[in-house]
Parts: sequence; structure tokens; C-alpha cells
Amino acid sequence: MTAVDLGERQGGAAATAAADAVRFRHVSKRFGTQAVLRDVSFAIPAGRAFCLLGRSGTGKSVMLRHIAGLVRPDEGQVLVGGRDVGALSSRDLASVRTGIGFLFQNAALFDSMTVGENVAFPLRRHTRLTEAEIVARAHQRLAAVGLEHDYGKMPGQLSGGMRKRAGLARAMALEPALLLVDEPSAGLDPMTAVEIDDLLLERKRAGTTLVIVTHNIPGARRLADEIAVLHDGRILESGTAAALDASEHPLVRRFMRSVGGG
Ligand SMILES: Nc1ncnc2c1ncn2[C@@H]1O[C@H](COP(=O)(O)OP(=O)(O)OP(=O)(O)O)[C@@H](O)[C@H]1O
Ligand SMILES: [Mg+2]
Repeated sequence: MTAVDLGERQGGAAATAAADAVRFRHVSKRFGTQAVLRDVSFAIPAGRAFCLLGRSGTGKSVMLRHIAGLVRPDEGQVLVGGRDVGALSSRDLASVRTGIGFLFQNAALFDSMTVGENVAFPLRRHTRLTEAEIVARAHQRLAAVGLEHDYGKMPGQLSGGMRKRAGLARAMALEPALLLVDEPSAGLDPMTAVEIDDLLLERKRAGTTLVIVTHNIPGARRLADEIAVLHDGRILESGTAAALDASEHPLVRRFMRSVGGG
């Protein structure tokens, strides 16, 4: 039964929860004595783009890792398509994860595989496509991020920005319904950064839900339906770019005026 089925059967509040691609309910997380997330709640409706801003070390990557079920909350729940990812069996979690693409902050390519094999990996694992179809699809995904000539290279032979783009090609290989991207344009030149934003915009138009951690405010303005600013373990404020521009928090306004990459 899909999350949508469940929502329709239960109606009311359950239907609303199921229509959310992601929902944090009072999530708290600490590492040792360090409280990283403190009672964080928000929801991302399916098909929307949500950008997460915040200073270094505030817990943005940790939030994405919660969504992918790589980290479990100490308190509260993280729902993906209405399902509590912290409470799933490893088998159910694996099935939820096939619908999630994740571009890690460091790209996290498999260093012993070629770039092309990295992109082909999820296709081999989760589809029944033929070898020829897999290779064609991997080539196509690489071309979309401007790496059409780099299929046979090893990740160690790529520049930092190229690694990031290869990671994005891999994250999008299965055309996931939910795409988590951690600083997609960090380390890229401004023109390539715009091309990556174009690609994300194209995914959004195709109905993909996007959660984007970024320091690239012009990009966030183009892409985001909603922007949230994380500070001190909490969402200081969230809303449209226009709402945040007019925020009463000086820190939020400062973020919105910044032009840093990432
Ligand atoms: N597995 C872990 N064990 C212990 N501490 C962790 C772990 N993962 C993250 N942290 C800590 O949680 C805090 C938030 O880390 P996170 O990577 O989410 O920051 P961030 O907002 O993504 O920062 P940046 O913008 O620099 O990427 C940091 O202090 C980090 O050291
Ligand atoms: Mg991070």
C-alpha cells in the first residue's frame, strides 16, 4: 500500500500527512553532549522545493541524513511519504530509500569504480534494465551534468566540481520522487552553478520533491517554494524568499542578502 493509498483510506489528517513528502515532528538529536537539532518541526508537500540555509555546523547535513534514514532522531519522528523512517525495518527502509536520491556534501563516489559505473550502480541494483540500457542511461545522466566525456574516468581523476556533478548524476539515476542535495553548487563556477540549478528546476517541473541545502541564495530564490533558516538547532524562520527578505530577524535578512556559493 502506498502512502497515498493510506492517506485516502484514513482520510482527514492522515491524508494531509501522506501528501507531505517529508515531515519532521518535534525532532531532537544530540551527538554526545552536543544538541544538534532541538524540537524541529516542518513539512514539505510533495512536488515542492525546500531550501535549507544555515551557518556551518548548524545541522543541515544531519537533517538530510535523518530524511534518508541514515540517522535516527532521539526524540520525535521523521516521516517520508507518511512513513516513520526511524521505525522501519531495514527491509522497509531499503525500499523507501530506492525512492530517494541523495547527493552527499562530499559527493561520496565509490572511488574504485569509474564515474560511469558510479552512475550505473543504482540502476544495476534496483532496475531490471538490460546492460545496454543501463550504460545508455548512465551516459545520458552524465551528459545532463556536462560530464559526457568522463564516463571512463576514475573519481580521483575528477576536479571537485566534477565529482559533485557526478554525484548529482548518480543521485538522479533512478529519477527518484524525492531528491536530497547537499550544497550542489559548492565549488562550482557561477555558470556551472546556474546549470545545476536549471537541472534541479527541471526535476521540480517533473514533479520531484527537492530538499536542497545551499549557501547559494540566488539559486535558492529561483528554486525554492519555501526557504528555512536553521540556527542553534531550530528553524529560526521559514517562508517564501519574499517573506524572509522582510524578516524581523537580522540574521535571516543577512542570509538573504549574502551571495556565497554552494
Ligand atoms: N555522526 C556524528 N557524530 C558526532 N557528531 C556529529 C555527527 N554528525 C554530525 N555531527 C555534528 O553535528 C553538527 C552539525 O553537523 P552538520 O554536518 O549537519 O553541519 P552542517 O550544517 O551541514 O554544516 P556545513 O555547512 O559545514 O556542511 C556538527 O557539530 C557536527 O560535528
Ligand atoms: Mg553540511
